[in-house]
Amino acid sequence: MRSILITGGAGFIGANFVHHMRQAHKDDRLVVLDKLTYAGNLENLSAIEPGEKFKFVKGDITDFDFVDRLFKEEKIDTVAHFAAESHVDRSITGPKAFIDTNINGTFALLEAARKNWADKFEGKRFLHVSTDEVYGSLGDTGLFTEDTPYSPNSPYSASKAGSDHLVRAYHHTYGMPTVTTNCSNNYGPYQFPEKLIPLMVINAFKGKPLPVYGKGLNVRDWLYVEDHCRAIDTVISKGVLGQTYNVGGRNEWKNIDIVRLVCAIVDEMTAKDAALAEKYPFKGKREELINYVKDRPGHDMRYAIDCTKIEKELGWRVRESFETGIKKTIEWYVANQNWWEHILSGEYKNYFDEQYGDRLKG
Ligand code: NAD
Ligand code: TYD
Repeated sequence: MRSILITGGAGFIGANFVHHMRQAHKDDRLVVLDKLTYAGNLENLSAIEPGEKFKFVKGDITDFDFVDRLFKEEKIDTVAHFAAESHVDRSITGPKAFIDTNINGTFALLEAARKNWADKFEGKRFLHVSTDEVYGSLGDTGLFTEDTPYSPNSPYSASKAGSDHLVRAYHHTYGMPTVTTNCSNNYGPYQFPEKLIPLMVINAFKGKPLPVYGKGLNVRDWLYVEDHCRAIDTVISKGVLGQTYNVGGRNEWKNIDIVRLVCAIVDEMTAKDAALAEKYPFKGKREELINYVKDRPGHDMRYAIDCTKIEKELGWRVRESFETGIKKTIEWYVANQNWWEHILSGEYKNYFDEQYGDRLKG
């Protein structure tokens, strides 16, 4: 039985990982540490009862004393480190939070692990969740491999690159049992509606403009979030210490094609379902909502991952096709309208107080 600290477990991928682990490893104890920034939403974890096997703790990974105490009290032997500021656009308008959380926060976690594990690394694991954006931007051809030199272009990717280097250095210098995953763009349930796919899905239903940056020709490699969670689970248990593993979907799409696909699926769903059409009335084709807007400064052109290493060495494979994954995702947003309405209205911020009250504060 492991005692696993999941940082950022109230965010998009972290929450999906908690759900995955609850199903896949029922004996493990999961301790979620999350600051509940705008991106953290305890409603993402509302299906999981707090108890012996699951605990939520509100706190900041940059607070070393707090993290140090948590390691001790919870006898943490495994870390899955998701907590981060994750949105590129926000890193352009306000980079400081990215440096604080992504670099200093990762440093505080590594220090807490080093102190508490005190060179007794047997059975311990520190998995750092990172991104393919650390490699920079590709031209029309080629793929990122684990050997591609780092060349981050946004404050977000630079802060993630900084944290990756710290993790690498802690393994090299102190023998810390680290593993790192660098994953491509995720999509699926619980993704905060500032990111491309949920934003387009919600706006398409509501008949609002669909803001496509530049000409919409930038390419991303999309992976269903559950496939990413299985990859992280696999790397924690089978990954070679000190190694990094690229994770991707072999699934490249131009942004404009994704937006057109979302529009077509939403048109089809509302055409087939009278209740849905009544809830989200729209005349014409939703493609007409596409609105080309000013490009993101320094916008990376193309990301694409070569995931041969994790496939060959650890036996991980993508399971979800994009065709089924995107439909499932859109259906999830339709079935969970309350979830995103709470976010858009700001109501989700009350959930912590309502559910956890004074019990867990501080
Ligand atoms: P997210 O923004 O949805 O969630 C981040 C979570 O971290 C939130 O719950 C937030 O409250 C928490 N958090 C932020 N600052 C904190 C702090 N100082 N202390 C404690 N908690 C804090 O992000 P996500 O999309 O789920 O991404 C999770 C991780 O995966 C990140 O490290 C990100 O860089 C990486 N990643 C994301 C993608 C993607 O497509 N979303 C792809 C590859 C890698
Ligand atoms: P995003 O979901 O922010 O992920 P990332 O920047 O980490 O890849 O954006 C995915 C792509 O979609 C990216 O090329 C920017 C583009 N985009 C838009 O065209 N319009 C939007 O409103 C958003 C949020 C993103």
